[in-house]
Amino acid sequence: MSELDDLSLLERLVQEVLTSPKYRDISPALVHTIGMQELTRRRNFKEAVKATKNKLHQVAGAYLDGRESYPDRLIELQAAIQTGDAHILRQVCKKVMSHHASTRERLPILDQFYSTLLSDLTPISSILDIACGLNPLAIPWLPLTSDATYYAYDIYQPMIDFLNAYMSLLPIKGRAQRRDVLQSCPTERVDVAFLLKTIPCLEQIDRKAGYNLLRTINARYLIVSFPVHSLGGYNKGMLTHYTTHLHRLLEDTQWEVHNEVFATELAFIIKKDAH
Ligand SMILES: C[S@@+](CC[C@H](N)C(=O)[O-])C[C@H]1O[C@@H](n2cnc3c(N)ncnc32)[C@H](O)[C@@H]1O
Repeated sequence: MSELDDLSLLERLVQEVLTSPKYRDISPALVHTIGMQELTRRRNFKEAVKATKNKLHQVAGAYLDGRESYPDRLIELQAAIQTGDAHILRQVCKKVMSHHASTRERLPILDQFYSTLLSDLTPISSILDIACGLNPLAIPWLPLTSDATYYAYDIYQPMIDFLNAYMSLLPIKGRAQRRDVLQSCPTERVDVAFLLKTIPCLEQIDRKAGYNLLRTINARYLIVSFPVHSLGGYNKGMLTHYTTHLHRLLEDTQWEVHNEVFATELAFIIKKDAH
């Protein structure tokens, strides 16, 4: 097959995947990357389309419960903010976070998670959240300065629109953007960057994803975390596995690393700057 045929096949595959209701709002750049891999691996076009959708489900779709209903959630958030009661706002934020498996799993540890990981890193006036999911809803738990900026990236346009609308209600400068971080890693200079439970997910598409992101992100501190249970709830020695994996990824660096184990998550504080 000529290169031109390959290209038009890839365009057809991207179009076909993007017409499916489940994937139409996903970053076309990511569909393109996965589609290209699957076209070379699979026996025919139909199998490549199916495999691309499966991979998108594994790395993104599987985390959402499909009941996010962003316009309703936004109204609830607005009402909670208007009460001026921080407890009410946190309750609504928790409800929103329960729609994404990754943040849902963090809810039982939320009160300790950010206070433990961030208290020694203050003042924090900028955060970068890579493959954020609904984690920006945890902003009320973060020890941020009053003029803080929050940059958030993920691949679903409706989620990104919702996060922008939500952050505009908060007393911070927030900016969410749809982006395939594998093709274009954000490089804003920040105090703290979150790579929460993201490395294993992105390494399913690109083996070097973790290695590259850790080096490209321009932050004083990185907070990198890993799940300790799989999505299905099974613990398969993940704590040891991911500890070894992270240390391998950092082998050729002089960065200071400190770990914290929570009931549902293994986290690392990495100091990138020497001063
Ligand atoms: C395991 S979840 C982690 C979510 C969030 N960091 C947290 O811990 O709550 C992985 C997230 O990565 C996002 N994602 C997958 N591939 C991506 C890519 N290439 N670029 C940006 N985000 C991606 C998914 O949509 C999903 O929200």
